[in-house]
Amino acid sequence: MFEWKNEYKVEITEIDRQHKKLLEIGERLSDLLKLKNDMDHYDEIMDILRELREYTEYHFAHEEKMLEKYGYEDLRLQKREHRSFVNKIIQLENQDIDQKQTGIELSMIEFLANWIENHILKTDHEYQDFLHEKGVY
Ligand SMILES: [Fe+2]
Repeated sequence: MFEWKNEYKVEITEIDRQHKKLLEIGERLSDLLKLKNDMDHYDEIMDILRELREYTEYHFAHEEKMLEKYGYEDLRLQKREHRSFVNKIIQLENQDIDQKQTGIELSMIEFLANWIENHILKTDHEYQDFLHEKGVY
């Protein structure tokens, strides 16, 4: 679900690297939630969720700074989308302990995977040509 695909590439080295890392964190979270045994994974789940949120915030800040620097006109839309995703992760982090232990459901993982895929394939591919024209690779 979180595997890297070539179509994800925006041909900007640092962005591609960060997107790979985002997917890699998502994959680890999804693997953990699929274990389906009675062991208590609460701490691990929380650690990975926090890592996902922190890395996402880092990635978004990097993107926004870059787009701002080159005067990208749809920056507000990007920022709005970024913020809603971070809020979604915070919601997950704040769920009840019990709820979290029985699993952040797979539907939630699907949501995260879809969101990341959508973010990379749609939102980020929209600025790809813009940045390439500015000589950013
Ligand atoms: Fe991105």
